[in-house]
Amino acid sequence: MSLLLTGIAELTTNDPARGDGHADRGDALLGVVRDAALVVSADGLVEWVGPADEAPDADTRRDLGGRAVIPGFVDSHTHLVFAGDRSAEFAARMTGTPYDGGGIAVSVAATRAASDDELRALVAARVAEMRAQGTTTVEIKSGYGLTLDDELRSLRIAREVTSHTTFLGAHVVPPEYASDRAAYVDLVTGPMLDAVTADGPTSLAESIDVFCEPHSAHAFDGDEARTILEAGRAAGLALRVHGNQLGPGPGVRLACELGARSVDHCTFLDDADVEALAAARGTTVATLLPGVEFSTRSPYPDGRALIDAGVDVALASDCNPGTCYSSSIPFAIALAVREMGMTPAEALHAATAVSARSLGLDRRIAPGQPAELAVIDAPSHLHLAYRAGVPIVRALDL
Ligand code: NIG
Ligand code: FE
Repeated sequence: MSLLLTGIAELTTNDPARGDGHADRGDALLGVVRDAALVVSADGLVEWVGPADEAPDADTRRDLGGRAVIPGFVDSHTHLVFAGDRSAEFAARMTGTPYDGGGIAVSVAATRAASDDELRALVAARVAEMRAQGTTTVEIKSGYGLTLDDELRSLRIAREVTSHTTFLGAHVVPPEYASDRAAYVDLVTGPMLDAVTADGPTSLAESIDVFCEPHSAHAFDGDEARTILEAGRAAGLALRVHGNQLGPGPGVRLACELGARSVDHCTFLDDADVEALAAARGTTVATLLPGVEFSTRSPYPDGRALIDAGVDVALASDCNPGTCYSSSIPFAIALAVREMGMTPAEALHAATAVSARSLGLDRRIAPGQPAELAVIDAPSHLHLAYRAGVPIVRALDL
């Protein structure tokens, strides 16, 4: 049965074709249609979009009562497969203890000790929590297993809820390899990668990621990260990088050089990094994760300067037990607007269209596209940041 959605005060389509003719820059960027209607086909695809007074008939109709409708958020960076609790580490950071990646080992131990069903239930609860806040697409990384079997298990459990899975065996060097880092890099690029791609390059993981961070004793330096990313690319995986999170470093430039889909964090950038990102526009997205700066008491990256330099900027949650146990994209949007100089329209675009592109997806509301929608209990998307902390947005169940 096809469904006609009416009562949409403002529809964000992310469709550049609908952006034409808008005097307002934000409306143009978002392809806003006011007093809109939408027809969704029986198989969940958008069939028609436009002004309500031109809407065709459908089998059924639903009136959204003057709410705003947006594309569902695409959270392109999360670590949802973990067990255990690190709230004390967060509390210590709030009184001055810096983050150095050492706490990851705590989550690794708890995750290894958890049963498949426990992990499955934790992931399901986190995905449901995200949907309840407007996220309809999620990327999930492994990285709290760090043995061949535990990494495969994490990826399998992640694959049960999303096709956008990322192999992060190179999250940190696990404690048992602390005295032989090279052996761990060999394990990741050899047996682990072979197992991840055994049934076909993307049968279990779409991408490979590495925590490239010379400022952490636990993470990987530029040379190690290059080895890992090149091996992943040769095995047929797309590339993602955790880069420049704790200080200046090689991650951003390496990601751009290797044609990664995304380099994430980008907290400490110099001019050469910004130039590399601008030159990589269309290939490599800079994914900003302001929930991390919030939860680690770090300086926020300058989103305004990146956009003005011509960089593709995405926003994601980085939901993880260490640096940001928030699954909320509306929170990330509010921080981007308040702390990073992004306009509300840029922040929404970054958390939908641009984050989608970093996963190889098209997140427009246009005929033929999946009807992945979120609805806001407010007449415009401006309320996402304006009403920070208030649960006004959720995925629209059709
Ligand atoms: O994206 N920086 C590396 N990994 C995660 C944090 C992981 C953790 O502390 O558990 C991040 O910030
Ligand atoms: Fe991360």
